[in-house]
Amino acid sequence: MTTKKTVLITGSTDGVGRYVAERLAAEGWRVIVHGRDRVRGEVVVERITKAGGEARFFAADLSSLAEVRLLADAVRRDGAGLDALVNNAGIGTSGAKRELSPDGLELRFAVNYLAGFLLTRLMLPALEKRQSARIVNVSSARQQPIDFSDVMLARGYSGVRAYCQSKLAQIMFTFDLAKELAGHNIAVNCLHPATYMDTTMVRLSGVRPISTVEQGGAAILQLVDEPALAGRSGLYFSGMQESRANP
Ligand SMILES: NC(=O)c1ccc[n+]([C@@H]2O[C@H](COP(=O)([O-])OP(=O)(O)OC[C@H]3O[C@@H](n4cnc5c(N)ncnc54)[C@H](OP(=O)(O)O)[C@@H]3O)[C@@H](O)[C@H]2O)c1
Repeated sequence: MTTKKTVLITGSTDGVGRYVAERLAAEGWRVIVHGRDRVRGEVVVERITKAGGEARFFAADLSSLAEVRLLADAVRRDGAGLDALVNNAGIGTSGAKRELSPDGLELRFAVNYLAGFLLTRLMLPALEKRQSARIVNVSSARQQPIDFSDVMLARGYSGVRAYCQSKLAQIMFTFDLAKELAGHNIAVNCLHPATYMDTTMVRLSGVRPISTVEQGGAAILQLVDEPALAGRSGLYFSGMQESRANP
């Protein structure tokens, strides 16, 4: 059994997730790469392995809650525990047409929030096995209060609104879970990594990138393994700075 720390990073076949996967592998972590596309996943694993790191890939479409459960099963079967879980996979703001997940849920709410919520709950036993573990929810500065009478956005849909409510839901989950896990070995924090990083998501939305994945990646890495943050939980960061989410 490996003595390395293990991290699961969702959505690490592209963008800032892939960057964080390669960086943590280079720092000696064993990395579980996740995405939908096996070919792209294996490319990331190969790059990590060639550079001397350790990684493996699990495929799952997080728009399906059944696939979230299968991913959790696969990770559980894979080993003894998890030192960190980074809920990073997400869909951006582009797309004017409302889409539903295979479970009949509004798609951005399902992928950006519910999948991470369920995966985190299913992974708690694996995280509890470690002396100290961290959960990092990659959210966004783009946040919109949730209309609890229309969470599925059946009225007045826009891709931006769907994205923003899913991201605030992720943040509220972080704060609630931190309270629930107080006194346990697991810290849970969330962040806006950086504004308009040069990634597929941003390019698809037609916006000109103004940050690099290295900038957003550094902010995520800080929450994963900065020793000064040990034991601190329920925080929201904007980039490298502790900040406040939409009240
Ligand atoms: N880019 C920014 O400026 C920015 C700013 C604030 C917050 N964020 C957040 O940062 C995170 C990463 O964004 P990014 O810019 O790096 O995006 P990206 O390059 O588009 O990468 C998104 C990742 O999520 C995966 N993904 C998307 N839908 C999925 C699904 N249904 N099931 C499983 N995996 C899925 C993608 O997998 P595939 O390879 O299969 O597509 C990919 O690996 C997101 O949560 C985003 O909201 C980004």
